[in-house]
Amino acid sequence: MAFYFDEPSRTFNEYLLVPGHTPADCVPAAVSLKTPLVKYRKGQEECPLTLNVPMVSAIMAAVSDDKMAVALATEGGLSFIYGNQSIEDEAAMVARVKDYKAGFVTSDANLSPEMTLADVVELHEKFGHSTMPVTADGSAHGKLLGIVTERDYRLSRMSLDERVADFMTPREKLVVAQDGTTLKVANDIIWDHKLNSLPIVDANDCLVALVFRKDYDSHKSNPDEMLDAHKRYMVGAGINSRDYAERVPALVNAGADVLCIDSSEGYSDWQKLTIQWVREHYGDAVKIGAGNVVDAEGFRFLAEAGADFVKIGIGGGSICITRETKGIGRGQATATIEVAKARDEYFRETGIYVPICSDGGIVYDHHISLALAMGADFVMLGRYFARFDESPSAKVMVNGTYMKEYWGEGSARARNWGRYDLGGKKSLSFEEGVDSYVPYAGSLKDNMAITLLKLKSTMCNCGALTIPEFQDKAKLTLVSATSIVEGGAHDVLLKDKAPYASNTR
Ligand code: IMP
Repeated sequence: MAFYFDEPSRTFNEYLLVPGHTPADCVPAAVSLKTPLVKYRKGQEECPLTLNVPMVSAIMAAVSDDKMAVALATEGGLSFIYGNQSIEDEAAMVARVKDYKAGFVTSDANLSPEMTLADVVELHEKFGHSTMPVTADGSAHGKLLGIVTERDYRLSRMSLDERVADFMTPREKLVVAQDGTTLKVANDIIWDHKLNSLPIVDANDCLVALVFRKDYDSHKSNPDEMLDAHKRYMVGAGINSRDYAERVPALVNAGADVLCIDSSEGYSDWQKLTIQWVREHYGDAVKIGAGNVVDAEGFRFLAEAGADFVKIGIGGGSICITRETKGIGRGQATATIEVAKARDEYFRETGIYVPICSDGGIVYDHHISLALAMGADFVMLGRYFARFDESPSAKVMVNGTYMKEYWGEGSARARNWGRYDLGGKKSLSFEEGVDSYVPYAGSLKDNMAITLLKLKSTMCNCGALTIPEFQDKAKLTLVSATSIVEGGAHDVLLKDKAPYASNTR
């Protein structure tokens, strides 16, 4: 006879936190958001890999490329570069993160001298940059011929077909620095010459990078940066349970700090075989997460198979239609609570703490607090990060509002059928995700600052200065459908129809 779970499975929206006592020293500035990323013998050793903030970006082409990875690592989280691309391309993205020198920017909006003011306007709209290098071939590392900034042109006075060569600031008038210049020296030159940007060139006068005055300032103010032992940004990478024998070595050689098997359903022999292969070839030196699961059995299976962390969630993602197409899944709150209990039980039995990640379905910022309170060690988000400047997807105008494109890995657009591995060759497939828009929300840094402040405030309301303390002290209550209405602004006429906290959704 089929097994029935007694209780309905629940979502984050059905829960609230009941505040506990807040001691006077429990203030947001004193909160630490450090959290383990991979398994360790808790109480006996330090976790070998910890996150400085409990947020990672989803293994999705619309979310996690090298640009996102650098931005998120700067704020203390971690990206998992999407695996639905060639092994070479994924490894190259990982390598770009590891080679990234903070403060040295490779321009993505470049001009050639034959281009026109119309091209400048178009690139400005597309990328939002006001400084564009001009190189002989229009590439990011071509021979430097000049620079165009907003000071070089006036749209009201010039015609759009004027050539870049005629209004750029030419090379001979530019202050440049040689490749190998440190960030400190580059910044001194910027200050001494009152510049906004400084091109770095090689011995052949080809452009290597740009250093911006504003970036130096922001670099100094990122105490949470996720850096490895060599002071390089840390990055994760998604893999699948088919081509791991080729993909894993390429990613490891490129410098990936942690891997994760990306699948909608992780309670399978294919995941076990993938983990086994990694252990046989790398021992514990390569860290590998697995998932997704939604119950204790699934967790135990992956923990016993040797997973370094386990991801939770089936069917809760914003772009996900797995529950509709296949009838599998579980409310994300219930799944998180049950898997957290299984993790604690496994720890009591073995002394090994296997961190768990709640993946998908985070809509409001406070859902992050709920997921952590329910026992998650960190959360994975797709839609949240897709809205930012740093995500790889296109920013488009829809009905007068800026949107970013966001599509599921199981959508017809992504065609990432390998994610749904059930062995054998696939001749037929069906969609488990949709293609969509999400409201454009600006920069990752600004949005994460608000999100993390909310999280820290909630933790203080519950009397917690660390995530483990929060998990220990949190008091969660189910809410009735009518009290959910009470929880929002109600019985008033809103002056501003836009969501009152646009960064929450
Ligand atoms: P979100 O943060 O609610 O947008 O959910 C992101 C998560 O949805 C990802 O981390 C994946 O676990 C999951 N996901 C990504 N693409 C698909 C899909 O096409 N179908 C189902 N789930 C997906």
